[in-house]
Amino acid sequence: MLDDSIDFLRGIRQRPVWSPIPEQVKAALSQPVPWEPQGLEAVWSDFKELVQPYSTGNTHPRFFGWVHGSGTPAGMLAEMLAASLNANLGGRDHAPIYVERAVIEWCRELFGFPGGSSGLVVSGTSMANLIALAVARNAARMEAGEGTRQLVAYASTEVHDSVWKVLRVLGLEDHGFRPVPTDREFRMDVLALERAMREDLAAGHRPFLVVGTAGTVNTGAVDDLGAISRVCRTHGVWFHVDGAFGALAALSPSLRDRVEGIREADSLAFDFHKWMHVPYDAGFVLIRDGEAHRRCFSTAPSYLERTSRGLSGGAPWFTEFGPELSRGFRALKVWVTMRHFGLRRIAEKIEENCAQAHHLAGMVSAHPSLQLAAPVTLNIVCFSFKCPGLTATQLEWLNREIVFFLHEQGLAAPSTVRLRGEFHIRVNLTNHRCTEADLEKLVEDVVRIGEALAPAAQGN
Ligand SMILES: Cc1ncc(COP(=O)(O)O)c(C=O)c1O
Repeated sequence: MLDDSIDFLRGIRQRPVWSPIPEQVKAALSQPVPWEPQGLEAVWSDFKELVQPYSTGNTHPRFFGWVHGSGTPAGMLAEMLAASLNANLGGRDHAPIYVERAVIEWCRELFGFPGGSSGLVVSGTSMANLIALAVARNAARMEAGEGTRQLVAYASTEVHDSVWKVLRVLGLEDHGFRPVPTDREFRMDVLALERAMREDLAAGHRPFLVVGTAGTVNTGAVDDLGAISRVCRTHGVWFHVDGAFGALAALSPSLRDRVEGIREADSLAFDFHKWMHVPYDAGFVLIRDGEAHRRCFSTAPSYLERTSRGLSGGAPWFTEFGPELSRGFRALKVWVTMRHFGLRRIAEKIEENCAQAHHLAGMVSAHPSLQLAAPVTLNIVCFSFKCPGLTATQLEWLNREIVFFLHEQGLAAPSTVRLRGEFHIRVNLTNHRCTEADLEKLVEDVVRIGEALAPAAQGN
């Protein structure tokens, strides 16, 4: 299995990026409950035939969709080591806990958070956002006299969908959330933020949270984190940064200043499984006030008694910092990835992706049939194929078809996005296997397919 998996990764470039799943494969995967043992050989054979060829494709050099990391063989081995221990990191006193504590300590240092801050390795930024926003709300509720005022959270209209979901879970989506408009570069309009806060204060509400984004999912825009943090400080409001992928720009000396304001945040959410290429899933939440973090989640049932000796030692337990009791050893693949590659090399790959984004944007801007849709801040390029005489609906049909064709032929896997009402092709570069030649091929393919399909667009 190990040899085959390494061979699979080695040969990834020769494979289609993605392949549509044949109906007979879907049918073959719908099997009856396996009451009797079938043996590892049979399962492995099914995996190779039915699963491996039809995966997402984000290990491929021309996977450009959404924000997917590419994984690494070292991460794959780390997953195997973690499974060999089958450790539960909810708590207790065992070495895996100290590995996660080491990861937390490194993250504190990387983002300039102080000694009393706390952190937790989680499934992803969605969960990290949930934990951070729950802590922020809990802290606001504990303030004296806050029982009756409506709590209000603020984030830009470009904020990630996971923040909307969290606000829904926290019961704040309907009356406790004010989306703030963005400027021309898709960054939060900080003057509009201040105006909204003043209006809410005048109406007797309690602004308690602002979510800034370091790398929006649509265009990679980075909010003015420094300015937002100053507004938050003036009004005594919790400042959370969603830095799902963008936060790791802080690893690079040449990109760091774009996300400098993270140091001022009360909490930060980001992913290891995106720009650090740790295999899915692995994200992180960092909270400046570690005590507020613990107060939000800590309970003390007798069967989970923390003792001063024995295996029940090791307090505080990680279960006191999040909603989960049982937790896997995700921290190991993060620890292995950071140590194996070193953060300098990971930062170089991040810089390379940003340079590639500018290279792609340059090719798009220079091509008469292509149009750039948004400024390139980090690693995301949004553009579309243009054809004179087509209506907006026809152009949308054409660009959708180009993306379908790229996916279905296994040529490349960009995703799509709607910006200010217009539909575009979206290329995200969190891919350490991608080269400039891959992007040159993408441009050639988009133009070739666009020109071939343009006549058909007239009828749509
Ligand atoms: C800005 C931003 N926030 C949050 C998320 C959600 O992260 P995850 O998929 O790890 O839960 C993403 C995912 O792409 C993102 O780009």
